[in-house]
Amino acid sequence: MDRRVFVENPFRPGAGHTPPYFGGRKDELERFQRLMRQDYATENILVTGLRGFGKTVLLSQLRTVARENGWLWSGNDLSESASLSEERLAIRILADLASALPAQAVTESSVNLLPNEEGDSEDLGTAIFDELRGIYERTPGLTIDRLRAAFMKAISLVKRSKMSGIVLAYDEAQCLFDHADRDEFPMSTLVELVSSLQKQDSVVPVVLVLCGLPQVFDALTATRTYTERMFNVMRLNRLNRDDTLAALAHPLVKLHPPLYPSKDLVLKAAELTGGYPYLIQFFGRELVEQLLQNGGVMSSEQFPSPSVIERLDAGLFSARWNRTTDKQRDLLQIAARGSNHWGEDFSAAELSELSNGEFSSAQANQYLVALCEKGIIYRTRHGRYAFTVPMSESMIINRMSKTDEVAESWETAPKDLAAATAPPVDESVHVEVAPKKRGWFGF
Ligand SMILES: Nc1ncnc2c1ncn2[C@@H]1O[C@H](COP(=O)(O)OP(=O)(O)OP(=O)(O)O)[C@@H](O)[C@H]1O
Ligand SMILES: [Mg+2]
Repeated sequence: MDRRVFVENPFRPGAGHTPPYFGGRKDELERFQRLMRQDYATENILVTGLRGFGKTVLLSQLRTVARENGWLWSGNDLSESASLSEERLAIRILADLASALPAQAVTESSVNLLPNEEGDSEDLGTAIFDELRGIYERTPGLTIDRLRAAFMKAISLVKRSKMSGIVLAYDEAQCLFDHADRDEFPMSTLVELVSSLQKQDSVVPVVLVLCGLPQVFDALTATRTYTERMFNVMRLNRLNRDDTLAALAHPLVKLHPPLYPSKDLVLKAAELTGGYPYLIQFFGRELVEQLLQNGGVMSSEQFPSPSVIERLDAGLFSARWNRTTDKQRDLLQIAARGSNHWGEDFSAAELSELSNGEFSSAQANQYLVALCEKGIIYRTRHGRYAFTVPMSESMIINRMSKTDEVAESWETAPKDLAAATAPPVDESVHVEVAPKKRGWFGF
């Protein structure tokens, strides 16, 4: 009987998917909790981390903390189009505020509802947006002055509804930066808005939370203001071993019976993830699938199945890889083979040396800059780079060795046709009966 019918796989690899158990990040949550308990605001939060490190998921945890403490949470994903100009960003902020403001805050306000308005929350949202936008349009001055005037109206509504403050939260903030060439400064506008509200001690506190890839920090330092000092930076790292084990083991406990993963098996899965949040979900899901196929038990040697790295590659890496040129792939291979540790960074000069003359330092540097733009690697500090996607090293080596195997097969002398068409002898059939162990649930 197929046991999969009865078990829903709880692990959720994928962008922004809430994990079945949220591991670690206690310091970050505590820091934010403290901020939300204050009735003034002088600091803001910047959450950065590589792809799949759990920024979006942490942001939704922060939202829960904010709401529990009575704050209004207003925000969205920043798209490139919303970040193109100061005007577009201003409209985005006002629209987000209008939809976040609770019906209570709006009905008790002086917002002019349209005649015959039924007063349901969608119409209230539209009415408040029209009101805020009206103020924005009518106020003289620069975008920042007009935005501040409209924002003050939102602040008065929040005050009236007795909420604690406003959190302006934006994910994918790497889309936001100043365009000095076009005289458009959307990042500076956002930061100046919050900074001026915090300086003038507005009637309710306002906190800005930005979340994105590590380059957000560069965009902030490039603004016209003294921005870095305004932010409490949460640099998301991998989870430690205990938190990783907890994130794997807790959801597995709930699947007992019919699944009985051994302690060794869970430890092996944790080892494979290296504490990288996306991989916790990925290998967790693979583990459950393979256990189901094996009738609920499996030895640690059987995990993971050989096709796992290919599925990982397809889900995480292939889109980026497909945008690289042959020469860039050669350089990536050198970087992948040259690193001793997962996630180690490298420089153009080091790769040039490892390439035995194939790349000069200047050429390697040029390719590294191009690879950065394609999102395969990122700059860790001046002149040094690392892979954006964890386990890139194994995926690159795997891909390149397959390409080499195909090339070699064409270079060797052809076999005779009879041998080539003979049915293959299956020497791999080897059934291992896993001992029926009790599950390991040490958490
Ligand atoms: N603390 C955690 N414990 C367990 N799983 C987590 C944790 N944080 C994130 N994950 C899982 O990792 C995956 C990636 O999370 P998320 O989408 O939040 O990453 P991200 O940093 O926002 O990625 P991106 O840069 O692509 O937006 C999801 O499947 C999520 O469930
Ligand atoms: Mg995200």
